[in-house]
Amino acid sequence: MLRSTLQKATQAGAHEIMRFFQQSFTVHNKEGVNNLVTEADHAAEKAILAVIESDYPDHQILAEESGKHERSSTYKWIIDPIDGTVNFAQGIPLNCVSIAIEHEGIIVMGAVFNPHLNEFFFAEKGQGATLNDKPIRVSTKNETIKSCLVTGFPYTYINEPNGPLEVFERFVRKGVPVRRLGSAAIDLCWVACGRFDGFFEQKLEPWDSAAGYLIVEEAGGKVTDFSGNDFSIYQHKVLATNGKIHAEMLQVINGQKELQL
Ligand code: IPD
Ligand code: CA
Ligand code: CA
Repeated sequence: MLRSTLQKATQAGAHEIMRFFQQSFTVHNKEGVNNLVTEADHAAEKAILAVIESDYPDHQILAEESGKHERSSTYKWIIDPIDGTVNFAQGIPLNCVSIAIEHEGIIVMGAVFNPHLNEFFFAEKGQGATLNDKPIRVSTKNETIKSCLVTGFPYTYINEPNGPLEVFERFVRKGVPVRRLGSAAIDLCWVACGRFDGFFEQKLEPWDSAAGYLIVEEAGGKVTDFSGNDFSIYQHKVLATNGKIHAEMLQVINGQKELQL
């Protein structure tokens, strides 16, 4: 039942994304000039909450736009109604709904749905990960220098020491392709299905990373913070890889190794 509610909730959010996509909608700013929230973000979140609250009225919720809904259950739903809002507002079809379920501190299920490509990524802890019901695996590349990476940049926090641009530059200067799609949840899922070999970002929130994190791990990949510790969605730094290039990427990210051509 958890799984079918998760699926229904994801579809309800995606329905709102498609209803507003490339139409007119209101747009407001959050912190930082280009950190946007649209009418569609609110509508998608409302539709998602309606599904979850009807099936599980006592479950807790942490949703990007409406925050914490504290309740009695040990289950918590972590919701990003549109991940990739700037893409959405520009009419770029790289955005998605991302929903994870946490139980007693462990992410047990996650779904990411990009309705523009009709790609539904799903994982349940211990049961593997799927794309449109077919099992997915991470890539097998074992050298960072030959890898294709993806990253994202926050709206603030750009000028920190060892910040996003410095780390990005270390890979790009060595000729490593580093893409920037604009949706952390899609970035993570594309690592999970082998389109990318690694993803790193420095300032993510729980709703950006929770579902994608489980999907990468269940596809055989590895996710940690920048110190190599087990990943927690409640801290901001994420390194997600196929596992084989993880240690080397950590060294480059922390300035302990220069890649050799
Ligand atoms: C953003 C996207 C983006 C990442 C930002 C996030 P939003 O989420 O995931 O890829 O670089 O840090 O805030 O605002 O589109 O839900
Ligand atoms: Ca997000
Ligand atoms: Ca969002």
